[in-house]
Amino acid sequence: MKRVELAHGLLAGVVLGAIRLVKCTPLHPGGFDPVPPRRSRPVCQRLEKAARQAARKAYAPYSRFRVGAAVLAGSGEIYTGCNVENASYGLTVCAERVAIFGAVAAGEQKFEALAVVSETQTAPCGACRQVLAEFGLDIKVIIADLANGWEVYSVRD
Ligand code: THU
Repeated sequence: MKRVELAHGLLAGVVLGAIRLVKCTPLHPGGFDPVPPRRSRPVCQRLEKAARQAARKAYAPYSRFRVGAAVLAGSGEIYTGCNVENASYGLTVCAERVAIFGAVAAGEQKFEALAVVSETQTAPCGACRQVLAEFGLDIKVIIADLANGWEVYSVRD
C-alpha cells in the first residue's frame, strides 16, 4: 500500500516537474527578432502554453482572476508562476513575480522573455515591471488571453 502511494507521489512529482521546467531551445544570440517574430514564434507559443498551464494553479479566491506566467531564462529553462492571493490583499503576489523569483532562486539571472496569460489580455502591473526592469529592459513580454490571442512587447515599451 505504502509502495503504491510512493509510486503515485513520484509520478505526480515527475509530471508536475515536467510542467514546471519545460526545456526550451535557447534563442539566437541577438534574442528575439523584431516584430513580426517569425523565428521566435515557437518560443512564444511554448511560453504561452506553459503560462496557460500555470494559471490553472492560481490561488485567487478573492479576485477569482487566475493569472499564469512563464519566463524563459538565459539557460533555456522555462520557469512558471501563478498569482497567489492573501486575505491581506496587499500581500498578494502576481504570477510574473512568482515566476521570476522562482527562476532567480533556481540560479537564473538572465531572462529573454516572459509570457503572462489571463482571461483578458493583462499587462504586468507596475511592481512586476519594476522587477522585470531589474533584469533588463529588452526582455520580451508576451501578453495572452485564454482565447488564444497574444501580442509581444518589451519591458522598455
Ligand atoms: N495579477 C497578476 O498575477 N498579474 C498581472 O499582471 C495582473 C494582476 C493578479 C493579482 C491578483 O491576484 C489578481 O490578478 C487581480 O488583480
